[in-house]
Amino acid sequence: MNKRSKKVGNAVSEVLNNVTEMNNDKPETRAQAPVALNLTSFLSQPARVLATNSYLQRQEQRESNARSYPRRLPLALKRGQGIFVEDTEQQIFIDCLAAAGTLALGHSHPDVTAALIETVQSDVPMQTLDLMTPIKDEFMTQLLDLLPGNMADNARIQMCSPCGSDAVEAALKLAKIATGRRSILAFSGAYHGMTHGALAMMGNLGPKSALSMTGADVQIMPFPYAPRCPYGLGEAGIKASLYQLETMLTDPESGVAKPAAIIVEAVQGEAGALPADPTWLKGLRDITKRHGILLIIDEIQAGMGRTGKIFAFEHADIEPDVIVVSKALGGGQPLAAIIYHNDFDKWNPGAHAGTFRGNQLAMASGLVVMRHLAQEQLHLHAGAMGAKLKHDLEAIDSNVIGDVRGRGLMLGIEIVDPNGERDVLGNLPQDGQRAKEIQQAALRRGLIIELGGRFGSTIRMLPPLIIQSEEIDVVVAILTDAINSVA
Ligand SMILES: Cc1ncc(COP(=O)(O)O)c(C=O)c1O
Repeated sequence: MNKRSKKVGNAVSEVLNNVTEMNNDKPETRAQAPVALNLTSFLSQPARVLATNSYLQRQEQRESNARSYPRRLPLALKRGQGIFVEDTEQQIFIDCLAAAGTLALGHSHPDVTAALIETVQSDVPMQTLDLMTPIKDEFMTQLLDLLPGNMADNARIQMCSPCGSDAVEAALKLAKIATGRRSILAFSGAYHGMTHGALAMMGNLGPKSALSMTGADVQIMPFPYAPRCPYGLGEAGIKASLYQLETMLTDPESGVAKPAAIIVEAVQGEAGALPADPTWLKGLRDITKRHGILLIIDEIQAGMGRTGKIFAFEHADIEPDVIVVSKALGGGQPLAAIIYHNDFDKWNPGAHAGTFRGNQLAMASGLVVMRHLAQEQLHLHAGAMGAKLKHDLEAIDSNVIGDVRGRGLMLGIEIVDPNGERDVLGNLPQDGQRAKEIQQAALRRGLIIELGGRFGSTIRMLPPLIIQSEEIDVVVAILTDAINSVA
């Protein structure tokens, strides 16, 4: 434990000590009066009880077997403010999941709430397909203004059905139509969504194996994250990857047709917060340009300020052909879009559509997020808080932590088996079971975190971008305690 987390650890030690003692508390005995959801009320609570209740029982009876988060986070949520949520048992949690990074301004941000109320009361049509409205006009102006350099001068926007997967589908269709080619190149570990086209590009075989989907028009290449380099080369794997790609595209017997597009996340989210090396992204940009292949950057999770820049590709100082955005874009309401270079605007009217692409409430709340980025530089705050969080996580003294990685407030802590055998790069085996135990230990201490990465071995940190320094101290103290409790 580093000095800082030790200090905070002392401050919250009473709470943490209570965790085990109070585990058998009956939910009915807890105070019922609503309290402000803040650090003081959070720290004043005893250990969280992860017992089932009538909400969770009904959920289990009624909801699809495909449900996933409730299996690991058995919570019925009632209220949220800032980084905090409260469940139906009046238990307060710090939310470092924030709807998979969607809630950039946290829960119930007053500016978002005000914008939503004002929009509802203005009698604006709630849904307008792709007809114009003043809110949409302002939304698009602000979105274009967020683009780096002169990108806005040549950019087009397609609003999509309001989920990231649909925007990914739109990007694929755009690329195929613009180039007349049919295949797409994606990377191991990639997550681009759950619709059929997006799923075909997923690295994880789990969700697609039941569909016999090998993705005939999709080629998957290794994603060269150096510490876990798929080529076994470490840093040298970055160059090897680019060389392999160039060879594949120029060798007449490579067996791989030239793709319409290459799609990549500038920080792979579900893979466990793996940042793409900036020189590699630059190399990808160079190769795609030379070969007339569209470069699609999926910014659905990493975009809108999360990594310390407004768009994560800005860390590599490149300009992609297509940007896919969703999650934080709608300020907590569903919204998705692609932004692309005018040169590729070759599809016909109606080539992509979607009933809910004119979601006015989402545009109004999304505007609030974008204003916080443009006017208050929220991405810089995210960058500073992310640097502090990463520094403090790196200082946790534990032999089960193999790697702390990511950018800004999109971080991953890889959990390893300290008794396992090291691989050729010196890495210990990833330990998904231990990560799961840490997740549960953290939840009992009031911290909501999700797992990702290979075998679910990476603890993922995706807190709202408005998180403050003293809140990070508490997060790190709890996590340290949770890790030590299972190590
Ligand atoms: C990088 C990335 N792409 C695409 C998606 C799919 O978005 P949605 O779940 O809204 O369809 C996600 C969702 O987590 C994502 O993280």
